[in-house]
Amino acid sequence: MNFAIWQSILEQQWGIKAKLSSLDGEFDLNILVKSTNTKNYVLKVMRSGCLQDFVDMQIKALNHLKVSEPELPFPEVVATLSGQKFVECKDEFGKIRLLWLIKKLPGHKYVDHGYKSLNLISQLGGMIAKCDAALKSFEHKFLHRDLKWNLSEASWVEGHVDLIEDSSHKCILENIIKDYKNILPMLKKQPFQPIHGDVNDHNALVNASLNTKASISGILDLGDMCFAPRVCEVAIAGAYIVLDHEKPEAALATLIEGYNCILRLDTRELDLIWPLLRMRLAVSVINSTLMSKDDPDDPYITVSQEPAWRFLERKVKHSKFMAARLRSICGKPVVDGADRVLAYLNEKRGSFFPIFDYDLASIPMGSLSVENSLWPKNPFFLPPEEAARVGEEIEHKDAFWMGYYNEPRLIYVEPAFRNGPWKASDRRTVHLAVDIFAPTSTRVHSPLDGRVAVAENRVGYLDYGGVIILEHKTPDDDIFYTLYGHLNPEFMERIKVGDTIDAGTFFCHLGDEKVNGGWAPHLHFQLALMTEGIEADWPGVGDPDEMYFWRSVCPNPAALLNLPDKMTHYSPTNKREILRERQEHFGRNLSITYENPVMLVRGWKHHMFDEWGRPYLDAYNNVPHVGHAHPRIQRIVTNQMGRINSNTRYLHPAQTAFAKKLLSKFPLKLDKCFFVNSGSEANELALRLVRAHTGSKGIVTLNHGYHGNTTGAVDISAYKFNAGGGVGQANWVELIELPDDYRGEFKRNDPKRAEKFGNLVDSAISNLTAKQIGLAGFIAETFPSVAGQIIPPEGYLQNVYKHIRNAGGLCVADEVQTGLGRLGKFYFGFEQQGVEPDIVILGKPIGNGHPIGVVITSSEIAESFAQGPEFFSTFGGSTLSCLIGKEVLEIIDEEKLQNNASLMGKKLLNGLSKLQDNFSQIGDVRGLGLFCGVDLVKNRETREEDPDLCSYIKNRMRDHRILMGSEGPKDNVLKIRPPLTIDEEGIDMILSCLQKIMQEI
Ligand SMILES: Cc1ncc(COP(=O)(O)O)c(C=O)c1O
Repeated sequence: MNFAIWQSILEQQWGIKAKLSSLDGEFDLNILVKSTNTKNYVLKVMRSGCLQDFVDMQIKALNHLKVSEPELPFPEVVATLSGQKFVECKDEFGKIRLLWLIKKLPGHKYVDHGYKSLNLISQLGGMIAKCDAALKSFEHKFLHRDLKWNLSEASWVEGHVDLIEDSSHKCILENIIKDYKNILPMLKKQPFQPIHGDVNDHNALVNASLNTKASISGILDLGDMCFAPRVCEVAIAGAYIVLDHEKPEAALATLIEGYNCILRLDTRELDLIWPLLRMRLAVSVINSTLMSKDDPDDPYITVSQEPAWRFLERKVKHSKFMAARLRSICGKPVVDGADRVLAYLNEKRGSFFPIFDYDLASIPMGSLSVENSLWPKNPFFLPPEEAARVGEEIEHKDAFWMGYYNEPRLIYVEPAFRNGPWKASDRRTVHLAVDIFAPTSTRVHSPLDGRVAVAENRVGYLDYGGVIILEHKTPDDDIFYTLYGHLNPEFMERIKVGDTIDAGTFFCHLGDEKVNGGWAPHLHFQLALMTEGIEADWPGVGDPDEMYFWRSVCPNPAALLNLPDKMTHYSPTNKREILRERQEHFGRNLSITYENPVMLVRGWKHHMFDEWGRPYLDAYNNVPHVGHAHPRIQRIVTNQMGRINSNTRYLHPAQTAFAKKLLSKFPLKLDKCFFVNSGSEANELALRLVRAHTGSKGIVTLNHGYHGNTTGAVDISAYKFNAGGGVGQANWVELIELPDDYRGEFKRNDPKRAEKFGNLVDSAISNLTAKQIGLAGFIAETFPSVAGQIIPPEGYLQNVYKHIRNAGGLCVADEVQTGLGRLGKFYFGFEQQGVEPDIVILGKPIGNGHPIGVVITSSEIAESFAQGPEFFSTFGGSTLSCLIGKEVLEIIDEEKLQNNASLMGKKLLNGLSKLQDNFSQIGDVRGLGLFCGVDLVKNRETREEDPDLCSYIKNRMRDHRILMGSEGPKDNVLKIRPPLTIDEEGIDMILSCLQKIMQEI
C-alpha cells in the first residue's frame, strides 16, 4: 500500500510524523501509526462514499463514552491541529476519503487470546453493561438508519437461506429463523436504546502476560451502532463468546452474569438471549455467504464461518433450558411461576400426604458423601455387589434411612457421568434428590394430586429401573413435577401416561436390585420446576460447577416429604473456611499450592478427589508410591491397629521381616538398617553415622540440594540455607556445582562432562582442609530433584565417590526421590550411576503415606556408630511402620510397578519430546522412568529460564484437573512425578492437556 499520501496528511493535519503499516478492516483502511514521539495511533481511512454521519456518529459516541464512563477502554479520538475531528482528503486515485485518528489501545484481539477464562468473560460482560448504561443517553440520527446487523431487524436473512447448499445447515438456519420469528413480538416490546451492536471477538482487546491476570483492554469499532433492544447487545457479544469455547453454556452464563451485575436484565430479556444469539450467528453466516458470491475466490470468507458452524452443529439446547440457566445465574426463577411453586410447597409443608406409611421425620439421615463415605472402594468402578449394598457402612441406620440432597458422591462412576474423555474430566457427582432407603416392596404414595407424565422401565445397570414422573399443579395453575426412581416396574401393567393419581394413593412400590438398576432398595425422590430440555431424562446428579443452576431447576424436595429443608440438605466442608482457619492457626511459611488451593478428601491410585467429588490426576505426589488408598495398606493398618503398635525396644517379627525384604534390594555390603520417621530424620542420622565413622565433620554436597527440614538436614540443603531468610552456609559445608549438563558449566556435547563435574569435588575438599575441617563425607540426591529434575551424566558419581573416598570420606546417597523403582530401569538411582554408596537414605515413598524413613549402611559403619550412645526412635520401626514398609516393597514387586514406571516413563518422555519439537519454549525434556522434568525457557539459544511460563502451565494444568509441581533454582522446570500406578490414559491426559495449554500461550 502506498502510505506516502497518508503520511503527509498526518503531518499536515495532526502534526504527527510516523511510520505506517496496515491493520485489518472489512471496508475501511485501518492504518497503524507509529509516531516518532513513540505514541501509537490508528488512522481510519473510510471507504470512498462513506457518509459523514457515519463517522460523526462514531466520534460523538466515543466522546460521549469518554465523558460518561471514562474508565471504559474505548479509544480516544485525536482532533487535528485545527480542532477538527475528521478531515476529507483525496486518495491516490483521486477519490474522496474521510480520515480520523484514534489513539491505539494496548492488547491483542480477544479471538487470538488463548485462554478465555470465565473471569475475563465476566469482565467483558460488565464492560458491555457499563457501555450500554452510558449509551442510553446518547442520541444521533444515524442510529436509526437501516442496518443489516440490527438484530431486531434480522428477518431479511430468510430470503437468502436457499443460498446455503448443505441441507443440514439449511435446516439449522430455518429452525433458528423460526425461533427468531416467534420471539420477535416480545423483542419489539423490550426497551430500545443506542447499542454498540458489534462487540465481537475481533472488536474486544485483551491485555495479558503470563504472570498477570488477563484483562479486557479495549472495545473497538462503533460502526454498527444502532437503536435496538438493549438485550441484543449481550446476545451479540454472547454469539462470539460461545465460539470454540470448551464450555460454551458456562461461558455465556458468565458473560450474562457479568452484565447483570452492572445492569439488571429482566426475565423477558434473559429468555430472548439464546434465540437471538443463534440468530446473530445465522445473520453472520448468511452475510458471509452472500459476500462470497461477490468474491468467490476469497477463502477467508468460508473459513471465517467455520467456528459459527461448529457451534450451530452442536446438539441444540432447548431455548427454555438455556433461558433457565441464564435466569438462575441472575438470581431469577427458572420459569415464570417457579417462585410461586416454591412458596406454595413451603406453605403446604406438613400437610402433604406421606409418601410412605412411615414417619420420615424420625428416620436417620445417612451420608454417602465424598468426605464421609468409603463407597465405592474404587471411585471409578462400582461392581454390582457394592451397588446393591450402598449405605451398608453407615452406622446407626435402621430399615428406613434417608440420603441427602446436594450431596457430592463418588458412586456415579459410569462414563455417562463424565463430561470429557478422561477419568479426571468433569464429573457429575452432586445428588439432586432425596433418597429414602427402605425395604423392598415398601409402598409409595403420591404426596399430592398428579398426572402421570412418564412411566418407564429403564433397565440399564445403575439406571432407575422403574421410574414414574408426575405432573402437579398449584391452585394458581403453576406446574411442577416429581420423580420416583428405582421402583418395581410391575406398575407398567397398571399405570400409563396421562393417568391421574390422587393425593395419598399408593401407586407403586420399591424394587430390589434385580429390577431397580442394581441398587440397594430405595426411592430416588426428585422435584423439578421445569422439564424443558430434560424432558423424561432428568439428571439425578449435577456437575458441582453448575449447581447454581441445578439447585434452581431441581430444588430440595423436603417440603413434599413434610420435612424441614435443612434436614435433607447436605453441605460439604467449606474450603474457604478451612483456608481461613489455616491462616489463623498456622505460620505463614507453611506453604500452600495454587492461588485457589485444592482440598483433597479422597484418593485412589493416581487420582484424588476434592470435597465436591471433582477428580484430579495426581502427577505430582511421590508419597503414594504404590497409589493412593491401596487396599492392601488399608487392610494392614486396620488389622494391626486392632492388635498392637509398639516400638523396637521389644521384639516383633515384622521388624526383621521388613529389614530382610528391604536389604534384599541392596548390594550385599549394605546389610544394616535404622528405621526412623522421615527423610529428614534419616539424613540427620546419616550425618551422625558419617561423623562417627570418620571422626570428621566436613560435608561436601551439591548446590541447590534438599535433604529435609530439621536443623542438620537444613545445614546440608543449599536449597534451604541459601534461600531468602535462610540460615546461610555452615563453615563445615562445601558446595559443588550441580551436574546439570543442560545449563551447567559442562554441556551434553562434552564427552568428558561426567569426569569434569566430578573433579569439582577436589576443590571442595581442599577448601575444607584449608579451614582445618576434616572430610566426613559427600551427600547428594542421586538425581537432584528440587534443583530441577537433573539427570547427572553417566559415571558422574563414580568419579565423585572416587575422590571422596581417596580423601577418607563416606558417600551418602539420598534416594528419597529416586529409589524403589521410580526410575523404571533401575530400582535405585545409584545403580544407574554404577556406584555402591556407603549409606543410603529412603523416605516417604516407602511408607506410601505413613511416616517412615530408613538409613541403610554397612556393618562396619553401624559398628562405629554403636560406639556412641544407644540409638532409639520411638516411632521409627513401629510395628505398623514395619508392616507397611514391607507391604509397599511387595506391592512394587507383585504389581510390577517398576516395569510400569519404565513403560509409562518412556511414553511420557516420548510425548514430551514431540511437544518439544513443536514448542520452542520447551528447552529441555529430561528424565528416567517416572522422574521427569520439562525445562521451560524464554529462548532456546540462551536457555534463559521462564518461571512465569512454568507457573502459568502449572496453574492451567490444575484447571485441567492435573496436579503437577515446579522446581529448579529459578522455578522453571515442570516436575512430573506421579504415583507408579499411572496408566496410559493418565499419560495421554498429561500430554494432551499440556499441548492445549502450550497452544494457548
Ligand atoms: C531428596 C529428599 N530428601 C529428604 C527429604 C525430607 O523428607 P521428609 O520431608 O520426609 O522429612 C525430601 C523431602 O522432600 C527429599 O526430597
